[in-house]
Amino acid sequence: MKKLGIIGWRGMVGSVLMERMQQEDDFSLVQTTLFSTSLKGEKAPAYKNIESTVLDSNNLEELSQMDIIITCQGGEYTKEVHPKLRKSGWNGFWVDAASALRLKGDSIIVLDPINNSQIEDGLNSGIKDFVGGNCTVSLMLMGLGGLFKEGLIEWMSSMTYQAASGAGAKNMIELLDQMSFLSNNYEKLKERNPQMGALDFEKKLKEQFKEKNYPNKNFNHSLALSLLPWIDIKMDSGQSKEEWKAQVEANKILGTNELKPIPIDGTCVRIGSLRCHSQAFTIKLKKSVDLKSIEELIAESTPWSEVIPNEKELTLSQLTPEEISGTMRVPVGRIRKMSMGDNYLNAFSIGDQLLWGAAEPLRRALRIIL
Ligand code: HSE
Repeated sequence: MKKLGIIGWRGMVGSVLMERMQQEDDFSLVQTTLFSTSLKGEKAPAYKNIESTVLDSNNLEELSQMDIIITCQGGEYTKEVHPKLRKSGWNGFWVDAASALRLKGDSIIVLDPINNSQIEDGLNSGIKDFVGGNCTVSLMLMGLGGLFKEGLIEWMSSMTYQAASGAGAKNMIELLDQMSFLSNNYEKLKERNPQMGALDFEKKLKEQFKEKNYPNKNFNHSLALSLLPWIDIKMDSGQSKEEWKAQVEANKILGTNELKPIPIDGTCVRIGSLRCHSQAFTIKLKKSVDLKSIEELIAESTPWSEVIPNEKELTLSQLTPEEISGTMRVPVGRIRKMSMGDNYLNAFSIGDQLLWGAAEPLRRALRIIL
């Protein structure tokens, strides 16, 4: 049985990964060792085929005993440990949730419902580093893969609405703290001034954002009752890094000719949903295609993709983070031609960024490697 090492299994992506691996009985296929810096030497949780003791995630000797390593520990860990392990001669499979190795020439971004043949070819040609894609990129391809496969997309603009959890567990809690801070103040205001109207409350609550004890250490700003139209660092292009990733990663996953990438660009925005990233697309089609064919192609993108008819009630009940959180579904709705012309398509999609956007492609890559 192959030996699997898992690092970062207690973080947000890591714990979703462990849950999915249990649900799908992946642990029965491998002999697993858990690694950690803070828990080294402690008793490991009781998963199937698991070594009883947690080992040290910085111990190269112990790591190099593994045939496959899955890490959800983050980019800093990857940058620190991966080169040293490879230099020491370790030739196992490295499966990573972080972006550090994503764009290297000898790594593959794993999203097998879209690029299974690229993964298989990579394995056959000796590729050893397999990396999960950026969450919005993976979710966009899970939703619209059928249009890309058919070669219908000339360019695309993607405007994202990304959940607080995409920024990390601390940020997720901070949003809840901000909401609680504001709602406590709202309750007090209401009690003291029963005559206050909506705009009076708005004015008063806005002042709370500037309060010294308003919880904003992680976001540095209020996400509650607001939104943050910038995610990650600035690139020379003026894009945020999150925006920049859309084109480069999507084209790498699709295996597009590097000299002729499909242009994909837009504005990435953090919003106050807790889990699930949403995206609004403007798609320039290469030719006019009727909506029925487009819907069929989208629905057939992957077994998890689905079309929500462009009807108000169905959209509001089916195409929301509330409905999709914690599920594997990737619904695409609001599909209609735009007023710019017959080749312009509007669409809106939602997916759980911790599942298809992070953990799921990793556990599936493990199975493909095995
Ligand atoms: N880069 C993503 C975000 C993380 O900030 O939302 C993936 O969930």
